[in-house]
Amino acid sequence: MPSVSLTVNGRAVTQEVENRTLLVELLREKLELTGTHVGCDTTQCGACTVHVDGKPTKSCTMLAVQAAGAEVTTIEGLADGVKADGETDGLHPMQAAFREHHGLQCGFCTPGMIMSAVALGEANPDADDAAIRHWLKGNLCRCTGYHNIVKSVAAGIKAMAATNR
Ligand code: FES
Ligand code: FES
Repeated sequence: MPSVSLTVNGRAVTQEVENRTLLVELLREKLELTGTHVGCDTTQCGACTVHVDGKPTKSCTMLAVQAAGAEVTTIEGLADGVKADGETDGLHPMQAAFREHHGLQCGFCTPGMIMSAVALGEANPDADDAAIRHWLKGNLCRCTGYHNIVKSVAAGIKAMAATNR
């Protein structure tokens, strides 16, 4: 079995994988990072979106061996954790915006939505609603009707710009 070395959420990892192992399987089953979801396994729903070398990537569509040497960030890598002052739970501004603007119901699509949205905030801090809707066309939600997702992403992008994150 080949072994693959990569960086996940800032941590260097080396794992033995089969040639056919998908990146999402490496993340969920070997590294126990189950925040990355599998909705379709066929590159349609976006629930499995992570960042690979900074680019939003559907991790059900990439082999683990293709990620050798890459920097991967999952939803678990976005938050800072609890801050010492106890005033904030350290959520990434985009995560906080989804919570504040009710951008989720069951939450299944949310990790992928947020990873895509953060990438948009980095690529286009001036994205308007039309740009947000266009960017998120690869992410499906079965619950919310999307209006609150768009509101959340718009607020999250503003908050990212304001906090330099
Ligand atoms: S699980 Fe990867 S796109 Fe749906
Ligand atoms: S919040 Fe349920 S699938 Fe999007």
